[in-house]
Amino acid sequence: MDPAVLPILVCPRCRTAAPFAHLRHPRCHACGLEPTERSGVLDLIDVAIGGEPTASSTEQRLMESDLVARVYERLWRPTFVRLLAGKGAGAAVGGISGELFIHKHSLSLDDRPGPWLDLSCGPGAFVRALAAAAPGALVVGLDISRAMLDVAAQRTSGYSNAVLVRADAHALPFVDGAFGGVNNAGALHAYDDPELVFREIRRVLRPGGIYVGSTFAEAPSLVGRLAARAAGIRRFDTSELRAWLQRIGFADYEDVRLGDAFVFRVRRP
Ligand SMILES: C[S@@+](CC[C@H](N)C(=O)[O-])C[C@H]1O[C@@H](n2cnc3c(N)ncnc32)[C@H](O)[C@@H]1O
Repeated sequence: MDPAVLPILVCPRCRTAAPFAHLRHPRCHACGLEPTERSGVLDLIDVAIGGEPTASSTEQRLMESDLVARVYERLWRPTFVRLLAGKGAGAAVGGISGELFIHKHSLSLDDRPGPWLDLSCGPGAFVRALAAAAPGALVVGLDISRAMLDVAAQRTSGYSNAVLVRADAHALPFVDGAFGGVNNAGALHAYDDPELVFREIRRVLRPGGIYVGSTFAEAPSLVGRLAARAAGIRRFDTSELRAWLQRIGFADYEDVRLGDAFVFRVRRP
């Protein structure tokens, strides 16, 4: 794990900045919290505050299953994206998924030094893509699911600039202005309180930092609408999302549609 993450962390219990001296056997110098660091994942869920998080939806319970985490990238994600967003969402650009391509380019990796946060990273496809594209920058993958992070840890072990953290997107364990960019693919629908997550993303971005997300749009097709309703998946209206992000203090909203999904980009002024 890259020790470059140490200065941007905050203690999940007492919110002290840069709480740990090292990543092996970390201990907060202010409150004594000793989070676990196991198999390449720094676990910053403070069970003393709220206990182990309990999944509030069926989808999230599935995201915490070892089996789903293992088959997620090859089987689960493509199947559900196809079902919920139609064929167009799976478009490829130059041999890689169009979504990955758009995320990478929207973050403008070459114009800023990072660090980069992949929020709700799942098994780490975007962490690997960012870590390979920006080898000199720190890339932090964060998720709440232990199963997803265990798979991400196996698949990112060859990337010395990647760090994996277990935490809740509603209370990010990072100092203000820690990141040059936040990537957030396919997870907005999973949050209990997206407003709180947007505010946290804005807080951890430095001025000029970029937030790139993707999620499901309002579906015109009956199959898409029924599939979303059956799975309890929230869909977002692009003009509402633009107004919402502007109200929170993001600027320069842009989006690109991929079937019945879309990728959006905003900037923290
Ligand atoms: C559909 S997956 C997307 C994974 C990955 N970003 C991708 O595009 O393949 C949604 C992810 O959001 C994570 N998630 C859900 N609620 C979360 C929360 N409150 N904090 C952090 N991650 C969360 C889930 O564990 C899951 O890995």
